[in-house]
Amino acid sequence: MATIEFSSREKLWSINAGALQYLLKVADDGSLINVHCGGRVGPAETFRLEGHFPFEPGLHLLREEYSTFGGLRFMEPCLKAELPGGIRDCVLKYVGHSITDSRELAVTLGDIGYSLQVELHYRAYPEYNLISRWAIIRNAGQEAVTLEEALSGAVSLPRRSTWRLGYLAGHWAGETRVVEEELKAGKKVLESRRGTTSHQLNPALFLDSGDAVEEDGEVWGCLLAWSGNWKAVAEYASHDQLRLYMGVNDFDFSWHLAPGESFTTPKMVVAYSSEGFGGLSRSLHRFERREVLPKNHADKPRPVIYNTWETLYFNVNEENLKTLAERAAEIGVEIFVVDDGWFRGRNDDRAGLGDWEPDPSKFPRGLGPVIEHVKSLGMKFGIWVEPENVNPNSDLYRRHPDWVYHFPGRPRSEMRNQLVLNLCRSDVREYVFGWLDRLLTENDIGFVKWDMNRNFSEPGWPDAPRERQREIWVRHVLAIYDILDELRRRHPDVVFEGCSGGGGRVDLGAMERYDQFWTSDNTDALDRLYIQEGYTMAYCPKTMGAWVTGVPNFLTNRSLSLEFRFHSAMMGALGVSVNLLELSKQEIEEAKMHIEFYKKVRHIVQDGDLYRLRSPRCGGLAAFQYVTPDKAESLLFLFSLQQGFGERIANVTLRGLDPDFIYELDSSGQTLTGALLMNYGIDPALRGDYKSRIIHFKAKR
Ligand code: GLA
Repeated sequence: MATIEFSSREKLWSINAGALQYLLKVADDGSLINVHCGGRVGPAETFRLEGHFPFEPGLHLLREEYSTFGGLRFMEPCLKAELPGGIRDCVLKYVGHSITDSRELAVTLGDIGYSLQVELHYRAYPEYNLISRWAIIRNAGQEAVTLEEALSGAVSLPRRSTWRLGYLAGHWAGETRVVEEELKAGKKVLESRRGTTSHQLNPALFLDSGDAVEEDGEVWGCLLAWSGNWKAVAEYASHDQLRLYMGVNDFDFSWHLAPGESFTTPKMVVAYSSEGFGGLSRSLHRFERREVLPKNHADKPRPVIYNTWETLYFNVNEENLKTLAERAAEIGVEIFVVDDGWFRGRNDDRAGLGDWEPDPSKFPRGLGPVIEHVKSLGMKFGIWVEPENVNPNSDLYRRHPDWVYHFPGRPRSEMRNQLVLNLCRSDVREYVFGWLDRLLTENDIGFVKWDMNRNFSEPGWPDAPRERQREIWVRHVLAIYDILDELRRRHPDVVFEGCSGGGGRVDLGAMERYDQFWTSDNTDALDRLYIQEGYTMAYCPKTMGAWVTGVPNFLTNRSLSLEFRFHSAMMGALGVSVNLLELSKQEIEEAKMHIEFYKKVRHIVQDGDLYRLRSPRCGGLAAFQYVTPDKAESLLFLFSLQQGFGERIANVTLRGLDPDFIYELDSSGQTLTGALLMNYGIDPALRGDYKSRIIHFKAKR
C-alpha cells in the first residue's frame, strides 16, 4: 500500500504511517474534514464512512482539520485572523493538493473572500507509526493580514466513551512527572507563557481510553517541536467529539503578514501505538534518534562527562580545574566541562553574564593552559554558556541597557538577577553569535552546555513597528534556532547540551539542535528515577543527561550509595559532578569500575529499546530494561525502594528478547533462555531499601 493514497472519486486521502492511519476528506461544502486518526481501517478506496455526525448538516465541522474563527464554528480555532477591512471571519475551503517523494502530502485551503491560503503539510513516517504535520499560512493578496492564533494543527480523536489525558508536569528540580486525568467536558489547556518550553509542563501529551497500560492498549501521542510559548488544548467540541490542538501559544501573540509573506508553524508530531505507552515511547525514541537529533552526532555514543558545577560551583580557576581534571581522567571521563563561573566578574549569580571573556583573576593566562592540560589527559574540553541573558551588573548591560526586553519607563523584573537579551534585534543576534563563534574558533572546545536560567517578563521590543511587537515570542525562539544551526554548521564536532535550569527547555524543536539535555537540576538518584521515567515517556534516553553527584544531596539531603547513584545515572547519558577530591581511594576505584562498565554497555542504553518494566510510582521495586535492536544484548536496572519485612517482591519478567536465544548473565557463564527470562522471570534479589543492581544479558552465538 502506498504511504499516501488519494481517491479522487471520494476526495479522500489516506496517510498510511505504519500502525497509524490518518484519513482526510473534502466534504460536500469544500471544507477539509478529518475522517480518522488511529489504528488501521483499510485502504482508502474501500473505506466507507460509518455512523453519526459526519453527515448531519454542519456537524461534520466538529472534525474540521484546521478549524478557524469563522462561520458557524464554535470550537478552538487553529487559525484566527484579521483580514483586510477589519474582517474577523475566515472560512477555509479546499483548493488543491500535492504529494512529494511519496511521503509528504500538502493540502491547500483558501479563504472564501480574501487570498489567504493555508497549506497543511503531513509527512508520514511509517517506520515509527507517526506523522509530522505543520501549516504554512500565506498572504497571497495585496493587503496586510494579522494572525491572532496560528496553531500547528488539531487532531480529531475517534469516538470513544472515555478519554484519559496523560502529560508531564512539575517544577524546577522536579520536571517531567507523569500526571493522568480523565477528560469529562470542556477544555483542558496546558501551556507555557514563560518564553521557554517550561519546567512546569512539557509539550508531550498522551491520550487513551482509560484502559491502556504500559505494554498494551491504544495510545495516541502528540508532541510539539517548539521551544517557546506553546499551548495544547484538549477540547470536547460537542457530541462527544474530542479534539487535541497544539501550537504556538496565542497568548500575547500576533503576527503581521504583509502581502506575499507567510508564517510557518512549528511541527506537531502525531504518533499512535496499540502496544501501550511503552510501545509509543519506543517508536518515538527511534524516530528521535534517526530523524530528529542532529545527524553528525546521532549515531555516535554520548560521551561520559565530568561537570564542575556540584563540586566547584562558581569557584573555578586554572589550578583547581587542572587538579580536578586529573582525577576525572583517572576514572575514565571523556569530556571535562567547566560550568558556570569562568568568565569576567562571575563569582556568584549576581554579576558577569554578558561579559564572555575568561576572568583574568581566575585565568590569568586565558583558558588555553586548562584546555591543553585537559587534552593532555586524553579528554576533550567543554564549557558552559548562557547566551540569552545578561546581569545588569555587567559591562554589556552598562553599555547597552536597551538590549533587553523591556517596556520604556517600566520596571525590568529580574529573575536570578538577570534580564533576557532581545534577540529579535539584529545587532543583539550578531553580538551573541559573534562571541560564541569566536569562543569556539579560538579555543579547542568539544562540548557546549547552553543554559537559559530565567523566564520572560515585560516582553517589550520598543524599537519595532507596533504591529510586530508581539512577534517576540516566536522571533526569540527562531533566533536561537538560527544561532545554533549556524554554530553547528561552522563547528560540526562540538556536542551541544541544552539546559534551562535543568529540563526547562526539552522538546523536539530543541532536540533538532542539541545532542543531549540537562534533564534536571535535581541530581538525587532516587528523585531521578521518577523524573527520568517521565522524561522517557516522550524523549529518548540517549539525550537524557544524568550525573552522579555528592552526598548528602544538596536538595534532598539524602545519602544514597555510590552504586545506586551510578546505576540511576547510567540509564541515560552518564556524567559525573561529584567532588572527586573528596572520594576515598576505594570510591575512586568504584567510580572507575562503573564508568568502564558503562562504556561497554552504553550502546544498549543509548541506542536500544526501553521497557519500563516496573514504575517507581508503584512502590517496592523499580525496574527498567534496555534491549539492542537485534535482541542480542540487554540490560536490566533494578532499584529497591522502601520495602517492609516479608513484603513479596515478584519475579521481574523481561521483555523484547528473542525467546530462542540463550543469554549469558553478567559474563558469569550462567545462561538462561529468552523464553525463560520473559515468561518465568528473574528474582530481583535486592535486600534492603535503596539497593540497586544491573544485570547484563548477552546472547551466546
Ligand atoms: C543552572 C543549570 C546548572 C548550572 C547552573 C550554573 O541552574 O541547570 O546545571 O549550570 O545553572 O549557574
